[in-house]
Amino acid sequence: MKSLLVCVSVSNGNTRRVADRMAGVLGAEVVEPEVVDVESLADYDLVGFGSGIYFMAVHPRLWRFVRRLPRGNGIRVFTFFTSGARELPLLGYSRRIRHQLASKGFAVLDSFSCRGLDTVGPLRLFGGVNKGRPNDSDLDRAAAFATRLCERVVRAQSAS
Ligand SMILES: Cc1cc2nc3c(=O)[nH]c(=O)nc-3n(C[C@H](O)[C@H](O)[C@H](O)COP(=O)(O)O)c2cc1C
Repeated sequence: MKSLLVCVSVSNGNTRRVADRMAGVLGAEVVEPEVVDVESLADYDLVGFGSGIYFMAVHPRLWRFVRRLPRGNGIRVFTFFTSGARELPLLGYSRRIRHQLASKGFAVLDSFSCRGLDTVGPLRLFGGVNKGRPNDSDLDRAAAFATRLCERVVRAQSAS
């Protein structure tokens, strides 16, 4: 199975740690959006889009990338995020990007999120909140998530 993880992790490397753990399970490469040829996504069986959450939104670089993508034609994708606070279902800062992917014709399978060390603004003075996150348990959860996705894609491919 050929997988790719597109990740923007600019604050503390939290999302990158999640991406690296998932990549280990999926045998995927982790890349920044700017190095991806958007036409090449069709070569992958599974593509992950990940970012930290900054001011209630995914990073603008990930947004720009998703906006540049051509039609998805059913390519299987997922999203993953780290944030300082738990995502509230109604505010749903990751919902918009999943909706955008779906409206371009990608098959959005699932989304993963966990807390990450948050050092925004004055929080830095106290060493931040969510110290040590993502922790081993978060990363194990990320690995289990990736395993489930991988099984799902393999099952779907062998059924078709
Ligand atoms: C400038 C900035 C703005 C942030 N805004 C939010 C926010 O609106 N909601 C939230 O839950 N976390 C917020 N955070 C916390 C980050 O989402 C969290 O630390 C995340 O794990 C950062 O991921 P990264 O280390 O991969 O960049 C913010 C962090 C920074 C640096």
